[in-house]
Amino acid sequence: MGALIPLIPLAAIPNCGGRRVLKNGLDLAVFRVDNAVYAIQDSCPHKGASLSNGVVQGKTVACRAHGLRFNLDCDQQGGPPTLPIQRFAVQVVDGIVMLECDTDTGCSTTE
Ligand code: FES
Repeated sequence: MGALIPLIPLAAIPNCGGRRVLKNGLDLAVFRVDNAVYAIQDSCPHKGASLSNGVVQGKTVACRAHGLRFNLDCDQQGGPPTLPIQRFAVQVVDGIVMLECDTDTGCSTTE
């Protein structure tokens, strides 16, 4: 495992909600759903609206601009086939959401 970069305290994210985090040149939407955390690109691939203030329902987030839905769960397709989203691996360490970064490839994405 590579480096872990602190993003945001878990307590700062409402349950079933998200927060925008700018870190290391990345614009991330970080979500908390019960005991799980997810990070995706904040910019909606449709027309660029922020996804961090989208409507979270289960493990999906709906963009407030035009309603497209994207899965937050890394085991599923991340959106309409023509509008994929980029996901980032995160974990919680001592109450802080941490971004997983690989020293060779940079911050890792999940498929
Ligand atoms: S900008 Fe997100 S659905 Fe259009």
